[in-house]
Order: sequence, then C-alpha cells, then structure tokens
Amino acid sequence: MSLESKISQKTARIGVVGLGYVGLPLAVEYAKAGFDVLGIDNDTEKVKKLTAGENYIDDVNSDELATVVKNGKFSSEANYENISSADVIYICVPTPFTPNKEPDVTFIEDAAKGILDGLRKGQLIILKSTTYPETTEKLLQPILESTGLKVGKDIFLAFSPERIDPGNKTFTTANTPVVVGGISQKCTDLTVLVSKAIINNVVPLSSPKAAEMTKLLENIFRSVNIALMNELAQLCDRMGGIDIWEVVEAAATKPFGFMPFYPGPGIGGHCILVDPYYLAWKAKEFDFHTNFIELAAETNENMPYYVLDLIIRSLSMNGGAIANAKFLLLGASFKKNVDDIRNSPALKLMDLLKMRGAENLIYNDPWVPTLTRNGTVLHSTELSQGLLQSMDCVIIATDHDDYDMDFIAKHSKLIIDTRNATKNVGKQFKDKIQRLGCGTNPYYPSRDEH
Ligand SMILES: NC(=O)c1ccc[n+]([C@@H]2O[C@H](COP(=O)([O-])OP(=O)(O)OC[C@H]3O[C@@H](n4cnc5c(N)ncnc54)[C@H](O)[C@@H]3O)[C@@H](O)[C@H]2O)c1
Repeated sequence: MSLESKISQKTARIGVVGLGYVGLPLAVEYAKAGFDVLGIDNDTEKVKKLTAGENYIDDVNSDELATVVKNGKFSSEANYENISSADVIYICVPTPFTPNKEPDVTFIEDAAKGILDGLRKGQLIILKSTTYPETTEKLLQPILESTGLKVGKDIFLAFSPERIDPGNKTFTTANTPVVVGGISQKCTDLTVLVSKAIINNVVPLSSPKAAEMTKLLENIFRSVNIALMNELAQLCDRMGGIDIWEVVEAAATKPFGFMPFYPGPGIGGHCILVDPYYLAWKAKEFDFHTNFIELAAETNENMPYYVLDLIIRSLSMNGGAIANAKFLLLGASFKKNVDDIRNSPALKLMDLLKMRGAENLIYNDPWVPTLTRNGTVLHSTELSQGLLQSMDCVIIATDHDDYDMDFIAKHSKLIIDTRNATKNVGKQFKDKIQRLGCGTNPYYPSRDEH
C-alpha cells in the first residue's frame, strides 16, 4: 500500500524521535487521531514514565496520555530497534548552542544515525527541530542517503518547524498552522498530507531552507522587538518619569502598524535566545554579518546584568548592601506559567547576585520545586507573610499567575519588579516597588551641570 493511502486510512505508523516539549504533544496528537505511534527517547526515565502512562509535559493532557498508552495507540522505547516499523518519522531533538554560541546540531546527527539501521523504502522523515537554513539538505539528507536510498525516490524528507508555545491555552498543536518544505514536490505533498491529519492549516513552501528560514524569522522577529523594548526600558529608567509599560500599552491602541512587545529581565527558553545565533553563524559562511540580529541578542543578554544594577541601586538607596541583604527571587522559569528553566534569565540573575556577594538568596517558584545550579540542589521556599517580611529585597523575575501580588506587595520591604506584575497593586505600596523601565529610580546627574 502506498504511503498516501496508509496516511489517509490512518494505518501509517508514526515515529517520533525526541519526546520533549515538542515531540510528546505531537505523538499524543497522532495517537488521539487514531494513528499507531512509536515514540523514541534516549532518556530512559522519560520512557519509563510514558510506559506507565505518566505525563511530564504540562501542555499534554495527562488523561489523554494515559488513555492512548492504555489503548495501545502510543508506546515508547529508549532505542531505535523498532524504528523500521514507522512509516513517518518525526525528529524533534534539541538544537542548543555551544558555550561559544555556535549551533550544536549533534542531536540531529545522532537521531539521524539512530534511524539509519531501520531506514527502508517508502518512509517519510520530517525534521521539526529549529535549525539554520540548509540543515535538512546538507546535513540530514547525506546521512540518510549514506544507506544507498535516494531522497525523493526511495525515501522522502522535509523540514516542518514546530511552533508550539508552551503554556499557551489558546493556540495548541491542532489550531496552530505549520509550514512545510520538502526536498521534492512529493516530499512536500506527503508531509502536508500527514500534517493535515492533526493540524487544520498546513502551508507548503518551495524548499526546506525556506521553511528553516521562516522558523528563524519568526523567532528573531520576537528577539529584535523585545530588544527594542529592553533598550527603551533602560532609557525610561535613566530619564525618569516615563513608564515604558504605559507607553507600550498606549502605542498598542493604534489599530494598525504596531504590535506590543514587552521588556523583561532577559530572554530564555530553548528558542528565542538561541535561534538568532544559528542564523548569525550560518550567515558568516556567506561573508555576511547579521549585525542587527546580533545587536538585539546582545541587548537581551545584557538585561540580567542591567537588572542586577537596578537591584544594587535600589538596595543602596534603602541603606542596604548586597553582601548582607536577604534576597527572595520569585519565579525561576524563563516565562510565566511554565516549568521550563532552560537558559532562564532568573537563574542568570541568581548567579550574578551570588557572584556579587549575595550570601542569603532563596527562590520560590510553584512550577519549579527544585533546581540544580552549579552543582547545588536548591528547593523552592514556601511563600508566606513571615518569609516576605524577613526579606530585604524581593525580585519578581517571572510573573506566574499563581502569585498574589497584593499579598507580596503588602508584606515585602523592597520589590524589584522586572515584569510589571505589580502594576495593579494598591497605591500605598508603590514607594517600595521598583518596576523595570519606570524611571522611579533614575540615575542621571543634573543636566544643569553639562
Ligand atoms: N520547546 C519549545 O517551545 C519549542 C518550540 C518550537 C520549536 N522547538 C524546537 O524543537 C526542538 C526540540 O525542542 P524541545 O523543547 O522539545 O526539546 P526537549 O529537550 O524538551 O526534548 C528533546 C528530547 O529529545 C531527546 N533526545 C535527545 N537526543 C536524542 C536522540 N539522539 N534520540 C532520541 N531522543 C533524543 C531528549 O532526551 C529530550 O527528551 C528544538 O530544536 C527546539 O528549538 C521548541
């Protein structure tokens, strides 16, 4: 039976390599749609949990996962032994950067090598991991073709980036459109067909590199706009008397030509911080320097250092010093209402505070009960009136919805709010709150002295 027919009749077996934030929701979606799904992850702990029907990704509905495991639609393994049984193989492995901010595509290479032994005629391989243009054609295709099978003739290959936004309840896998770029027209057509089985809107593109560039554009667009807001937040702080958050909201009342982005303590996660460096690295191969993109990345990466400066200034204005002050950091994950701490600016801030001599630093995060930092295991401290009252400085690094800001504002002595989380707290608390980008703590000498 042709792959088209198998997909249309839902008898095609779907393989998903990498069962993390991207792979697991995808696997569950296909299983829910009636396909047989084989998940592969080299993390044996994850496979153990999944085999027991246990969930570890918040965006996945635990009951739905348990059901598809129980009814045999979804099974997972820690090796590639049975990969040849899959008709379609999604690759959803990490694409981090190296310490020197260069692309680390070794996970893609390892996954590709993992499926080699099971590769057979008629299979479709779809790369979902975010990466630089030409990865599919110049890195993945040669590995797959080392078997003697030809892409476009014997096997099929496409790039179709993931757009999932963890924690977003409005846009999920099914209602977020995806783009697809295949090596050949048939590669594209097959990928569109299998994607449409679980996604409403699928957009075919001319090539894998167009799809790779599309994904980078989407994330770099965010990076650049956030950087602009971070720059303006610092200017507002220096000028005094202008609230960047008010300004952004005001600009957003314009019904066309403006889209709101917000400043913050820096960016984290696995995408927006990392992806600009993938393109910057690739561009150099063409004697091209993506100055604009790198300036944005630099501005965003400087934000934890800027917030540290804001903390030190605010503390010293209250007669405190970093070495003997007690700090409570609220929110360790890189954004609100998720448990993902990868590249989190909150953790960078903790490191910077420690490096500047902060001895008494604890954190609270209802989403992150424990974390390991520089070899030390830290536990989230329970939030209470007594705890807040005993702290010299409370830093709001991530504005989870769980936080009762009035309660926090009422019982804290000094708050550094990097997320505008305290904008609606009672006026009586405003004097003890330093909001990033609000110029309530200006630091510019008198202009008369110029
Ligand atoms: N997390 C997001 O919000 C998001 C959104 C869009 C795109 N992406 C992209 O999707 C890709 C995956 O990201 P993620 O957040 O799901 O990562 P993740 O770390 O949550 O999951 C990746 C999984 O792959 C497994 N793995 C690694 N190497 C493997 C191998 N050789 N064989 C089998 N399994 C292997 C890991 O154990 C892990 O469970 C990345 O390229 C990322 O940039 C992520």
